[in-house]
Amino acid sequence: MSQLFHGGDLHAASNIFGRPADDWLDLSTGINQHSYPAPVVAAEVWQRLPYLQPALMDAAAGYYGQHACLASSGSQPIIELLPRVLRALGSTKTAWLADVGYQEHRHGWHQCGPIKTYNGLCVQQATLQIDNAMANDEVGHLVIINPNNPTGTLFSVAQLLLWAQQLNNGFLVVDEAFIDTQPSASLLCQTLPDNVVILRSVGKFFGLAGIRLGFTFASPRVLAALQQYIGPWSVNGPAQSIAIAALNDQVWQQHMRQQLILQAPTQLHLWQQPLLQLGASLAAQHELFRSFAMTPNLAHQLHQSAAEQGILLRPVDINSSKSLLRFGNIDLSQTKAIQRCQNWLQSLHTRR
Ligand SMILES: Cc1ncc(COP(=O)(O)O)c(C=O)c1O
Repeated sequence: MSQLFHGGDLHAASNIFGRPADDWLDLSTGINQHSYPAPVVAAEVWQRLPYLQPALMDAAAGYYGQHACLASSGSQPIIELLPRVLRALGSTKTAWLADVGYQEHRHGWHQCGPIKTYNGLCVQQATLQIDNAMANDEVGHLVIINPNNPTGTLFSVAQLLLWAQQLNNGFLVVDEAFIDTQPSASLLCQTLPDNVVILRSVGKFFGLAGIRLGFTFASPRVLAALQQYIGPWSVNGPAQSIAIAALNDQVWQQHMRQQLILQAPTQLHLWQQPLLQLGASLAAQHELFRSFAMTPNLAHQLHQSAAEQGILLRPVDINSSKSLLRFGNIDLSQTKAIQRCQNWLQSLHTRR
């Protein structure tokens, strides 16, 4: 199965499948298709060094709440830095991560110390495993993707705070890249304990992955250590200008949240029946993506045959008997795109 690239890598997909990069229907990411309409960037913004604008931090405080925070060029660079920073500031014992989830966390922690995994598909199983490990003082740091991409699992704020309390000289990292459609589930609704680190991405809900902007919320000690690594000018000026508008625009945010919630059943409906008939089952439902569980063989076949029709999906291998196939949102106003998907689904059933 081709998992050499992250979702959305159309050039890599073009090389593999021989289709021009501009002829794909890209459903391989969870990035909102309806991006925030970026305002025109003032001429001087292109020219000046991008010192952090106070207006950006004010906009972030308005959107995320009043917490100490650090802006960075996406949450990705912080995901890469956190393992070594948190191990230097806290426990050097085992980091616990979901076995299925955004793999960059695992990659980073694996490079600098022991890791163990909990079940990324089932909240109840994961809770049992983490509770057990906590009781045996086996958890150095705990990393939770909330909600998980691609499995959709979501832990309650109360559960997360309890684990943060139980950690012994360790940190709880919560990656909330996909939480913007359900803001009341965010830990940012609370006062943050000193050993909690929250990651937020401007890329997903705002559909602005290209500007590379993310925020980290943590104690001043953790933020200062991260800041040393990322240096000055880590967020470019145009990104700052666009994000100030997006984070301040409550009307757009509310409208978009409602629209995504309202459209979620239609987005699911498009795939659900045909995939269930092929033996898949629904494994995750989020307003920006849905994942179906199936055999690796079926996931591979579907990924391949969709790509042959110019539809890029995201397969995720779990083990030798199970894979997920994740479907991002379609722009429902694009009838040609919907038709392309329906033609593909029909071809699967006529081929059987
Ligand atoms: C769960 C999760 N966290 C973080 C990221 C990185 O996001 P960014 O660097 O664009 O903020 C991704 C990207 O796909 C993701 O899926």
